[in-house]
Amino acid sequence: MLHLTFDVKIERPRGTRDFLPDEMEKRRAIERVMRRIAESYGYREVLTPTFEHLELFTIKSGEGIVEEIYAFKDKGGRDLALRPELTAPVMRMFVNECTGMPKPLRFYYFANCFRYERPQRGRYREFWQFGVELIGSNSYLADVEVISLSYEIMKTLKLKFDLHIGHVGLLRHVLRDLDEKKAERIMRLIDKKDVENLDRFLDEIGRTELKDVIYTLMELVGGLDVLDEAKEIVRDFDFSYIERVAQTLESLDVEFKVDLGIARGLDYYTGIVFEAYAEGLGAQNQICGGGSYRLAHLFGGEDTPATGFALGFDRIAEICEIDVERPKKVVVVSFKGLEIEAWRIANMLRDKAVVVTDVMERSVKRQLSYANDIDADYAVIVGERELKEGKVTIKNLRTMEQRTVKMEELLSEL
Ligand code: HAM
Repeated sequence: MLHLTFDVKIERPRGTRDFLPDEMEKRRAIERVMRRIAESYGYREVLTPTFEHLELFTIKSGEGIVEEIYAFKDKGGRDLALRPELTAPVMRMFVNECTGMPKPLRFYYFANCFRYERPQRGRYREFWQFGVELIGSNSYLADVEVISLSYEIMKTLKLKFDLHIGHVGLLRHVLRDLDEKKAERIMRLIDKKDVENLDRFLDEIGRTELKDVIYTLMELVGGLDVLDEAKEIVRDFDFSYIERVAQTLESLDVEFKVDLGIARGLDYYTGIVFEAYAEGLGAQNQICGGGSYRLAHLFGGEDTPATGFALGFDRIAEICEIDVERPKKVVVVSFKGLEIEAWRIANMLRDKAVVVTDVMERSVKRQLSYANDIDADYAVIVGERELKEGKVTIKNLRTMEQRTVKMEELLSEL
């Protein structure tokens, strides 16, 4: 047979990453913490398809996201898109499958998302989100619950972060007499804190008088007293909802700042919005985003209130210093002809440890050196003479102590 080798190395696509075992172990350890906490609040896991009809995301996900979507036509000519996030898919699933279920519904997900963004540190074209959606309640308690849950996850992971909470209704109220397109554009620019273009746009549409109030709100970040200041600026907005949420969170010892400039990058938010920013990440420092929204009626269901958040898993993995618990690693080393015995001993030990055996037909010396290379804790050496007496040799590769023990004692030696 003819084998051809080519010189071109195939690289992975831009904005994607490979994850090697050390990193995967860390990521799984973080994921386990997130799952455990979400489950302890009664959230249950769901999973939706990796791709959806493009329309699902263009209906209400915002100008920003539409430009960033991985959209394509399948062989049947359908317009599809890789999911850029999971809130719209989960709400589609809710409308399709779950409307008869007792409310509120508590769902969580951990899945990859795709956005055609310019890759940079902390910003990828394939990334993972861990998120929750609490569906069916319009009480302030629902917002309090999801915010507390995100806070507890970030605290448990010992992240250094600032949690900011706002209400998107306030900015929308300020922009209420603008048409939707203009208002959304302004919201986008506020979300990006792009004051230069915001200034230009407000001039362009002849609404310079809005500058003062918008810029002041964008800078209103602080304790609950910020709300009193805002009341002076926007007199006809009802602050009671955000006040209630903020007061309740304060009583629950959640540390946060009121931030009335949060606009969020997605258009579906209707009420409370929140974001968390972490230290040590550079420009892409937002590790959590969420808020309350209404989407079900756009997907053919009844108008249903919902609230939730998504944590940027990759950004969190980058800064989180979690202890990864590694099980003991054992290499069962066998002399030639004793492979089956070695295999049996390995199987017996696998209840308690990670056990590898030789699959290269190496010499005992080379097997032992491999055990060192892979940082094993123990080598169990299976030799003819010991085996006849029902014994094996166990070598602690950290202390280099070596003992010959009875087979029955082997498990308790680890
Ligand atoms: P989002 O703010 O667009 O919200 O994304 C949530 C988090 O995903 C961000 O805070 C960020 O950490 C992470 N993220 C976003 N884009 C990238 C990227 N290109 N690379 C790495 N990480 C990224 C949502 O997606 C909403 N669905 C959240 C939500 C759930 N709202 C209500 N329920």
